[in-house]
Amino acid sequence: MILNASGCLDALAAPDVARRLDAFVTKTVTPLPREGNAPVRIAETDAGMLNSIGLANPGIDRFLAATLPRLAELAIRLWVSVGGFATDDYADLCRRLDERDEVQVIELNLSCPNVEGPEETVVDIVTAARASTGKPLFAKLSAAVPDVAATATAAAEAGADGLSLVNTIRGLALDERTLAPTLATATGGYSGPALRPIALAAVFAAYRATGLPIVGMGGVETGRHALELIAAGASACALGTVLFADPRAPGRVRTELAAESRTHGFETPLAARGASHTIVSSLLSDKTKKPAIASEM
Ligand SMILES: Cc1cc2nc3c(=O)[nH]c(=O)nc-3n(C[C@H](O)[C@H](O)[C@H](O)COP(=O)(O)O)c2cc1C
Repeated sequence: MILNASGCLDALAAPDVARRLDAFVTKTVTPLPREGNAPVRIAETDAGMLNSIGLANPGIDRFLAATLPRLAELAIRLWVSVGGFATDDYADLCRRLDERDEVQVIELNLSCPNVEGPEETVVDIVTAARASTGKPLFAKLSAAVPDVAATATAAAEAGADGLSLVNTIRGLALDERTLAPTLATATGGYSGPALRPIALAAVFAAYRATGLPIVGMGGVETGRHALELIAAGASACALGTVLFADPRAPGRVRTELAAESRTHGFETPLAARGASHTIVSSLLSDKTKKPAIASEM
């Protein structure tokens, strides 16, 4: 299953790209409209990109009245990402979306800087959201926490049906000439290739801790990258930064993923889910045996 990462595709502007996905994830919607941060909001770096968009969105009222009906016309599965600044925001947003048949899944953006916090925050928000909707809830977590497994477990115990991992990580780029920060907000969210090992580690830990469905993302550019996330425990994979450079990525990554899976002996990509854990388990159990090399000495 291939999705877009929230905020990285405008399905109304690029419907043909969205139709090649198994589901479209909206940019995070907040209770009130947000202009977002002042420009400059995007900066290129060596191994990825920085953004400080700041959750620019029309707010839930306009989203429900104008955006959602237009998205529904595309006839693709819709996931709506929601974000807020207090537990009640999430509860209200989920309650409003619960009434709308067009919405298949709600993704709780728990990783925007203003709400990122200790596990208690995740528990409070997921619990409140769970009480407000019967729709499937995916908790989108940051890898920039002391213990991703603990946060993932907290989200699972509070009622999340799945996890989305990972969001961007704070980064800074400096102007080559002036050494001033490139972004108007100084720091921004870092995404792209540099996130790949971080995303793999987070998915690996969250799968081991919870076994929940996981949308893996972070620097995916090829089918091989997607397969690695699935082997680490993802059940789906989302394309983010790559879509800005390659709008054909959904179809290309899907084809590459199928071929790459077969090369590794898996009939379908999903058959590879968690494969890296099986190998780790056998390595660990082998440690109790005498290593072959030692017996030769
Ligand atoms: C320009 C931009 C805007 C983003 N906006 C959102 C957002 O609104 N909500 C959210 O949960 N994540 C947002 N993200 C994070 C992505 O969904 C994704 O988690 C992250 O970029 C890692 O994937 P990637 O390395 O493939 O881009 C945004 C990322 C970028 C680059």
